[in-house]
Amino acid sequence: MKIAVVGAGYVGLVTATCLAELGNQVVCVDRDHGRVTVLQAGGVPIYEPGLDDWLRRNLDAGRLRFTTQLPAAVQAAELIFIAVGTPPQEDGSADLQHVLAVADQIGRHMNGFKVVINKSTVPVGTADRVAQVLRERLVERDCADIRFAVVSNPEFLKEGAAIDDFMRPDRIVIGLPPGEEGQQARTLLTRLYAPFNRHHERTLWMDAASAELTKYAANAMLATRISFMNDVARLADALGADVDAVRRGIGSDSRIGHSFLYAGTGYGGSCFPKDTRALVHSAAQHGLRMRVVEATEEVNHHQKDLLARRLIERLGADLQGRRIGVWGLAFKPNTDDMRDAPSRHIVAALLARGAEVRAHDPVAMAEARRALTADLAAAGRVAAFHTPPDGCTRRVPGSLALVDSPLEAVEDADALLVVTEWKCFQNPDWARLASLMRQPLVLDGRNLYEPGLMDELGIEYHGIGRRGRVRLNGRVRPDDRLVSPA
Ligand SMILES: NC(=O)c1ccc[n+]([C@@H]2O[C@H](COP(=O)([O-])OP(=O)(O)OC[C@H]3O[C@@H](n4cnc5c(N)ncnc54)[C@H](O)[C@@H]3O)[C@@H](O)[C@H]2O)c1
Repeated sequence: MKIAVVGAGYVGLVTATCLAELGNQVVCVDRDHGRVTVLQAGGVPIYEPGLDDWLRRNLDAGRLRFTTQLPAAVQAAELIFIAVGTPPQEDGSADLQHVLAVADQIGRHMNGFKVVINKSTVPVGTADRVAQVLRERLVERDCADIRFAVVSNPEFLKEGAAIDDFMRPDRIVIGLPPGEEGQQARTLLTRLYAPFNRHHERTLWMDAASAELTKYAANAMLATRISFMNDVARLADALGADVDAVRRGIGSDSRIGHSFLYAGTGYGGSCFPKDTRALVHSAAQHGLRMRVVEATEEVNHHQKDLLARRLIERLGADLQGRRIGVWGLAFKPNTDDMRDAPSRHIVAALLARGAEVRAHDPVAMAEARRALTADLAAAGRVAAFHTPPDGCTRRVPGSLALVDSPLEAVEDADALLVVTEWKCFQNPDWARLASLMRQPLVLDGRNLYEPGLMDELGIEYHGIGRRGRVRLNGRVRPDDRLVSPA
């Protein structure tokens, strides 16, 4: 089938590449010239495991092309996917300007029946707004007889496992418009997605509003599980229980399942924070409150700088003269995405207290440099990046060094904060690590390590919700209402 995908970001690139892999002719359009040039040469501007091989294979086979020229791509395609960003606005609502700008361009150039498919995460009613824009442009062009169908087909892939998620979806949600156009779209999309439905039917057909709401409800549910476990972790700390044992205890209940039950430094990324806010905002526009989702956000807000608060509790509010190692900057493993990453809050809090921060991430260093520079600039601070010479023990207060290895991050450090659960952090050489640090103090924001083992190794260890085993300053605090590091 002939397909255009507009947007060459995490979702657009994976969608375009996977659809090409299935034998379709795909043109992926982005307005960012630099990005398109890299892609045309077979480069991949984001980190997504496996994507580079798949992209190059389909580029070489002539099934996948990249362009900045939307008109030609629209005219050649029967199916047009919109996969551009929908970032949060100040009030929490989703910013639809990119989606509507693409709709405007499609309306100006479409030349026959098209199925326009919204893959971006958009609030209920957006399919109707896109259809309205198309109609207006067609009327202006005196082409009101050109027909179209606007379909909602939200994407559920996870960064880090995006190809597998796209190629082996749990379900494909498709919201159709009413009438003949909707049925025509259904016929085309049934053909497009047939390879995913061979074993059993995975497509769930519904109306567009329900499909749009399904995406937000799914993300809100997953975010809620995380915040729920973070609440349980606080209680576990106070009661002397181990949240990891509780996680296994409840996850083995088939009604609950094991996914998204990890206590930690809170959720981040490009989806959960913005989608929960957008859902609350949508409800408010209809005079309603999403109380569970509001509580989910509140817990997450508290959780994001928990590690920094705990460090301050342990080392004192003034971190001048302290060197803090940070492992992991991306919002989760297997991606370089720094959008709303908890590391950004933690690093900002440490720098504001005068600490020297040495951070390492196996993949996200370039993105981290960009994101952290922007954060510091927004806070009115100049980014004080520095490259410490080998073996240097002199601290540079309020400075940040992005270093090349996990062990470099802990050299002469007063504490190590583990923020992202990359596999390469799972089994460090503890003896070497402890010998390199000024004091062996580990604050584990992802509960990667066993408190018992840390005890044996003589490492002072603090997980999340595991303080029943190892108590901060020799006492358990009933809650975490600690000094804000801001
Ligand atoms: N990232 C995820 O894991 C994920 C998962 C599911 C759904 N989503 C949703 O998918 C959408 C896209 O997310 P993303 O992470 O891929 O975004 P992204 O920021 O990585 O990519 C968006 C791309 O769209 C391009 N773009 C913007 N306006 C354009 C225009 N007018 N014409 C052509 N290109 C344009 C940008 O240059 C950018 O390359 C969002 O709504 C997001 O919520 C994301």
